[in-house]
Amino acid sequence: WVTFNSWNPDFRSGSLGFCFAEAVWGRGYATEAARALLAWAFDALDLNRVQAEADTRNIGSARVLEKLGFRREGTLREDCIVAGVVSDSWVYGLLRREWDHDPD
Ligand SMILES: CC(C)(COP(=O)(O)OP(=O)(O)OC[C@H]1O[C@@H](n2cnc3c(N)ncnc32)[C@H](O)[C@@H]1OP(=O)(O)O)[C@@H](O)C(=O)NCCC(=O)NCCS
Repeated sequence: WVTFNSWNPDFRSGSLGFCFAEAVWGRGYATEAARALLAWAFDALDLNRVQAEADTRNIGSARVLEKLGFRREGTLREDCIVAGVVSDSWVYGLLRREWDHDPD
């Protein structure tokens, strides 16, 4: 799935998230689906900023965001505790003026 959260029409901002089954990783699906959602966010919703977070252990997520043009802006320390395991998240941002509508 790819999802869009925290849409704030006054601030013209929102957040992107994604999760794909491990069996289909590495086929470009996350990048393709997130790119479609970003086009909708910037073109239809007229957003100025989209934010995303990725667990610092998830290199694939960070790579997807960087391929889409997101910039790493900082670290959310101890953002998640799952089954007692504490992890940090990177926070990424993509601005409308940085968004490449037609990467091809
Ligand atoms: C992150 C995730 C969505 C990737 O999905 P995907 O469909 O495989 O992504 P894509 O194929 O579009 O791109 C993955 C990129 O990461 C790279 N990558 C993946 N694992 C990597 C690793 N361990 N080291 C370096 N690069 C890695 C791939 O090579 C690819 O880059 P490339 O196109 O330059 O070769 C998937 O790992 C996932 O669902 N993870 C769990 C949930 C999650 O972390 N969600 C993010 C919250 S925002």
